[in-house]
Amino acid sequence: MNSDLSLDFLRVVEQAAIACAHTMGQGDRVKSDQVAVEAMRQTMDTVPIDGTIVIGEGERDDAPMLYIGEKVGMATQNGEGARKLPEVDIAVDPLEGTNLCATGEPNAIAVLAASDKGGLLHAPDLYMEKLVVGPSSKHAVSLDASVADNLRAVARSLERDVEDLVVIVLDRPRHEKLIADIRATGARIRLIGDGDLSAGIAAAVVGSGVHAVMGTGGAPEGVLTAAAMRCLNGEIFARLVVNKPEHEERCRSMGITDFKRIYTSKDLASSDNVIFAATGVTDGTLMKGVRFFGDGTRTSSIVMQSNPARIRFIDTIHVEQARMVRVRF
Ligand code: FBP
Repeated sequence: MNSDLSLDFLRVVEQAAIACAHTMGQGDRVKSDQVAVEAMRQTMDTVPIDGTIVIGEGERDDAPMLYIGEKVGMATQNGEGARKLPEVDIAVDPLEGTNLCATGEPNAIAVLAASDKGGLLHAPDLYMEKLVVGPSSKHAVSLDASVADNLRAVARSLERDVEDLVVIVLDRPRHEKLIADIRATGARIRLIGDGDLSAGIAAAVVGSGVHAVMGTGGAPEGVLTAAAMRCLNGEIFARLVVNKPEHEERCRSMGITDFKRIYTSKDLASSDNVIFAATGVTDGTLMKGVRFFGDGTRTSSIVMQSNPARIRFIDTIHVEQARMVRVRF
């Protein structure tokens, strides 16, 4: 997969973000998601790839677009004899944080990751225990260590006190003990309503004010986080939550037989050629949300690739009518 595709994937997440940003605060999360999916699906076919969705909106039966296994990209448009396009696997979350968009809260993003064929784990849509940290802490923590040991290790690697750390946790009843354990160490906590993927990205960026993400969230978001970690040199440690026979069945159908396995970013996003692109929908820690100003729209995105390693923060002004343009810094 050619890394030049990064800017094509940028267009895809920008269009998804713009579409759903129009619905911000309207209280209709289904609608917000739907317009993001439609815009992403439409733009995807303008990207010069022979793409396959490996993480998407669900199985074909319940997802009309961007379903797992769906073919996307220009190859779907080409007739016989058309030039051979690169085979690419794609994980998408057209609107990560549907509630955040529907209520206008921070950190809703449109996001995708791409890799060479076979380079992203086909994760079942189950929960996953996660621990996400940045480059300095990645060799010091373990998913099996206690919360206190992990936070002491993160603090040591960042040369600060545990009390100075900020840990992001999804605000869920299932995290009651985790939150109590973190509080007992004296570390600070930011409870979020949704969006552990953008939290994970922030944990790997020095200066974001986020030092770790802990707790259980979606496995698809875990794979997308892993793709971001491959580009940012951070780390995710993750284990599927498999506690019902039907979970085991779903894992087996995707070729997963070791239900207790702890995955790292290299296991979840194994390709050496990973591209990750995200655009802010609502204002967030690393990206601003979509801004509409009459004759144009401004988006803020992060586009990363692992080979060669490049991390781009991209601000785009999408102009409706060229003659109307008035660019403000
Ligand atoms: P949506 O984008 O589907 O709304 O999911 C947001 C999210 O908060 C993820 O960031 C997180 O991994 C997952 O949902 C947590 O799931 P749950 O809301 O069931 O606890």
